Amino acid sequence: MAVIDELRVEDNPAKHRYEARAGERLLGFVLYQAQPGRITLIHTEVEPELEHRGVASQLVSATLDDIRARGLSVVPVCPFVRAFIRRHPEYAELVGAR
Ligand SMILES: CC(C)(COP(=O)(O)OP(=O)(O)OC[C@H]1O[C@@H](n2cnc3c(N)ncnc32)[C@H](O)[C@@H]1OP(=O)(O)O)[C@@H](O)C(=O)NCCC(=O)NCCS
Repeated sequence: MAVIDELRVEDNPAKHRYEARAGERLLGFVLYQAQPGRITLIHTEVEPELEHRGVASQLVSATLDDIRARGLSVVPVCPFVRAFIRRHPEYAELVGAR
């Protein structure tokens, strides 16, 4: 699906969220709170007409990759993120790490 092929994920610190976009179009976001050494992921949301096509999974996986690269740990409050980490145990070490 073209719109998802060109999906890119970027941190938008001014809005406290990681955003998934295709071109300028906002497809979804993960809202967070940043604290020293860790990031609490609060809520994930995807455009309703794009649900069940993997947008949130791509978004959360890129978000967790970035958090790992920044050497931070994750507090997964969002139920989608909690379930995603359960399904992808390679991210489990980020939870409560460091
Ligand atoms: C939840 C949400 C972000 C998922 O986005 P998505 O792009 O459809 O997700 P993906 O396609 O990557 O993955 C879908 C899978 O995530 C899982 N999932 C969906 N909603 C979930 C939830 N609330 N909690 C845990 N897991 C969930 C299911 O296994 C689902 O599989 P299915 O497509 O076979 O039903 C989206 O449905 C949404 O914006 N919902 C409204 C807001 C919301 O409830 N957010 C979650 C709480 S923070």
